[in-house]
Amino acid sequence: MKLFSSMAAALVLMSAAAVSVSARPSSGLLPYQDSALPLEERVSDALSRMTTAEKIAIIHAQSKFSSAGVPRLGIPELWCTDGPHGIRPEVLWDEWNQAGWTNDSCTAFPALTCLAATWNPEMAALYGKSIGEEARYREKDVLLGPGVNIYRTPLNGRNFEYMGEDPFLASVMVVPYVRELQKNGVAACVKHYALNNQESRRHTTDVDLSDRALYEIYLPAFRAAVQDGGAWSVMASYNLYKGRHACQNSRLLKDILRDEWGFDGAVISDWGGVHDTGQAVTGGLDLEFGSWTNGLSEGKKNAYDSYYLADPYLKLIAEGKADTKELDAKAANVLRLMFRTAMNTDKPFGSLNSPEHVAAARRIAGEGIVLLKNDRGVLPLDMRGKKKIAVIGENAIKPMTVGGGSSSLKVREEVSPLEGLRRRFGKEADIVYARGYVGEQLKEHDGMALLDLTDSRTESELTAEAVSVARDADYVIFIGGLNKNPHQDCEDTDRAGLGLPYGQDRLIAELAKVNPDIIVVNISGNAVAMPWVGDVAAVLQGWYIGSEAGNAIADIISGDVVPSGKLPFTFPARLEDVGAHALGEYPGNAEALKLGADTVPEYYSEDIFVGYRYADKARTAPLFPFGHGLSYTTFAYGKPEADSRQLGADGSITFSVKVKNTGRTAGKETVQLYIADKKSSLPRPPKELKGFRKIELAPGEEKVVTFTVGKDELSYYDDSKHAWVAEPGTFEALFGSSSRDIRGSLTFRLVD
Ligand code: GLC
Repeated sequence: MKLFSSMAAALVLMSAAAVSVSARPSSGLLPYQDSALPLEERVSDALSRMTTAEKIAIIHAQSKFSSAGVPRLGIPELWCTDGPHGIRPEVLWDEWNQAGWTNDSCTAFPALTCLAATWNPEMAALYGKSIGEEARYREKDVLLGPGVNIYRTPLNGRNFEYMGEDPFLASVMVVPYVRELQKNGVAACVKHYALNNQESRRHTTDVDLSDRALYEIYLPAFRAAVQDGGAWSVMASYNLYKGRHACQNSRLLKDILRDEWGFDGAVISDWGGVHDTGQAVTGGLDLEFGSWTNGLSEGKKNAYDSYYLADPYLKLIAEGKADTKELDAKAANVLRLMFRTAMNTDKPFGSLNSPEHVAAARRIAGEGIVLLKNDRGVLPLDMRGKKKIAVIGENAIKPMTVGGGSSSLKVREEVSPLEGLRRRFGKEADIVYARGYVGEQLKEHDGMALLDLTDSRTESELTAEAVSVARDADYVIFIGGLNKNPHQDCEDTDRAGLGLPYGQDRLIAELAKVNPDIIVVNISGNAVAMPWVGDVAAVLQGWYIGSEAGNAIADIISGDVVPSGKLPFTFPARLEDVGAHALGEYPGNAEALKLGADTVPEYYSEDIFVGYRYADKARTAPLFPFGHGLSYTTFAYGKPEADSRQLGADGSITFSVKVKNTGRTAGKETVQLYIADKKSSLPRPPKELKGFRKIELAPGEEKVVTFTVGKDELSYYDDSKHAWVAEPGTFEALFGSSSRDIRGSLTFRLVD
């Protein structure tokens, strides 16, 4: 080590001597300090003043969530924070455990599946603005989110952090989030790029798939975030792609991200996603976080100088085995990120836990909750002459903003569903609670004690109590589903199956026997099986909806808010009805799994047939289809019309369809446009989502919804040509209230 340190010292001296110092302009500021100058001028000026050692210092972590600045030049450190749903509490310098600060509680916004379920880009903008203001106030420069990995299997433990199964929906919804977030001088770090579609073996799964599936399904949301959202950073994922870790994968990080999409931001590794200095240097990574390299077994204190892009990289340069071209490119990308954030002198001040943020959390949740079933119009609850509501289930009281992995939060307040229902109905009815079931109790998360919900009663005792409470109630509201424990909706683990845990199915069946007016609120970030769905009156998909959960659920159940959410992913009747399970290799190649291989190949053999694309192709009958969601009113669609029945390669067609509110209450409807290519040289799904509009209608009101379609909406990716192709021929435009509730269609032709 002695020889190396003197070499490094010599290198530092040499490069310091070479550093040029340009004259101070009249403003007294050096160019890199002058925010009036163009960004690239500032970046190159700063770079020209930095030594090699200083450039190395800014491309890897210095603590769990920060990377170094250049103290000598007054360039500040860069601070990152999780997560996609709210600002993570401060952690100790070199630990995951919370630091125990008393000023870092936040507002928890709904999980991104709920945001996607709003199908409302305005909600995404509100979300990005609100969370950006909280990050800014907490003086964070990079928000580690949003996540846009596609929902390939309902078993993926992190689906709750993402925006569903459809690339078009996710692409539209991610852009406003990124734009509004970054107006606060806080970078989005869109994750996990790419193909991190499961949590089991997330560090060692080696994904392979066709370029068609890559470009049509798994990349679009990332591309939209970069090209339309202008994302300032992207997080490279843990998994491998075609044999190379994503954090070191030049096809993903250079060929596609930079050369094809023109990304000018910084690529940040997932925490511990880097495994090799040489590959990280040439593979396109800019900023290494969370490593536990061979030179420093996991957990070694202050190991940051041994990171792959730290001393080992400096050593390669000192020995002439690596030039500084790549280093300058990395340092420039990190400096650009710094000038946009930490060194951005136009940043607003931000705010934390403001009434506006709390209201935003409630509003987004209210727009994202999905009414799946509502027999006899049991919802909204009609309390006339009613005096007792039974609330049953652990999820009525269990905090859901804690746990689930890195998106876990410390909130200033979380209104539980039980509390929300008590606030809304407590004056007009008795709200009687019974636990119903008891899930496994985790004692702590990130070193902080969790609410103690210990209950030693047996299942039969719990059931007996719940049934007795339900028997004479006017309404039963069962609040169950999954939770943020391992092997449910939780990072680093996948679920074992579609079923609800803790005997909930048996319990719901027992409750339905004694009271027909039972409403089930499923709290989950994933599809679940519902064997009791025929025995209950109503089902709401309640998602993980953050600080205002109870209030938002009560808003919907009372009718104060009319449900308008639509499913961003399919609820399959069986796992075998899911492409990845019917045709794919999930959770990986069986042979390799059996052999216990270090890396497990996984070929996405279902290809582009993901979600409803597979359900339509296989003609399965989902429990609830993609895009499904009821209202407390009804909508009639008129016959769709088009301004032409054919378009040329550079032309377009504008469709219009009238939608009328035929019910007695105002409501919002999301009109969905699907396009079917009636004949194509390559296999295509029966239909694909290519447009949606959410509109609000008063009772009796009618509006005309229009969509303009060009060749982009008709194209598929031809991997033999490495290009998008719109093939002349006949197409069909289908207008639906869901992917399986098509209200009208018309055919048209694309001509040469
Ligand atoms: C985790 C997650 C990533 C998170 C990061 C920092 O492993 O994969 O989403 O932002 O580490 O906590």
